[in-house]
Amino acid sequence: MMILVGGEKGGSGKSCLAQNLAVYFAKIKKGIVLMVDCDPQRTTSDWIQARNTDPSLPAINCIQLYGKIRNDLLSLNQHYDYVIVDCGGQDNLALRAAMSVADHVIIPLRPKRRDLKTVPHMEDMLSTCKMVNPKMLASFVITQCPALPTQANRIIEAKDVCKSYGINVLNAVTYSRNIYDDSEESGSSVLEIDSESKAALEVIAIAEELIAMKPDNSHEFN
Ligand SMILES: Nc1ncnc2c1ncn2[C@@H]1O[C@H](COP(=O)(O)OP(=O)(O)OP(=O)(O)O)[C@@H](O)[C@H]1O
Ligand SMILES: [Mg+2]
Repeated sequence: MMILVGGEKGGSGKSCLAQNLAVYFAKIKKGIVLMVDCDPQRTTSDWIQARNTDPSLPAINCIQLYGKIRNDLLSLNQHYDYVIVDCGGQDNLALRAAMSVADHVIIPLRPKRRDLKTVPHMEDMLSTCKMVNPKMLASFVITQCPALPTQANRIIEAKDVCKSYGINVLNAVTYSRNIYDDSEESGSSVLEIDSESKAALEVIAIAEELIAMKPDNSHEFN
């Protein structure tokens, strides 16, 4: 299964989610996981490097790929149970190439106007890529949500914006929690710092929702 965590908004939590999903599939699903870092900033590669210095954390493989990576991804996908691709925050060749082969595309967005402004362009990009990869399942996920009950409306409104463009939005969200930032520092994940933390339950809910999604067969009837 190939999962691309992408989008063009910087800082929305792409690398953070990609890393936590990688640990979910390695630790909970006992799968063989490869992370593909397509971001020249090397956030995920740095995380893996920090991780490898701690022998108590199970190793996760990671490679860097840039540009026309479609064929590389296709062949890597045959050798791993899960390939998790972290694309940096830009509309670039690697993002489009990964979208053309991924089973799942997840686009994190904060419930903020500047993030939501990227939805129309992402919808455009997704529909282009769906022409070559019709089985792709694309979803937005709302991240770094404010925990204050008085701000709950922001989350609902953000989901409504995504839905208004006809793209699936996950029920599961992440709330703004320091444990995400703190776990990254040491190459760890929220699942490993505290597997019963609220953040761990958020990551599990996101992963389970993805796994439960049915293959998109709608193209077969068009
Ligand atoms: N749910 C969350 N709660 C709190 N902090 C978070 C959450 N998700 C991500 N962060 C933090 O936000 C910062 C940006 O996250 P991250 O690097 O994953 O974003 P990104 O989308 O990959 O950015 P870029 O576009 O630069 O690649 C990091 O410090 C990360 O720890
Ligand atoms: Mg990143």
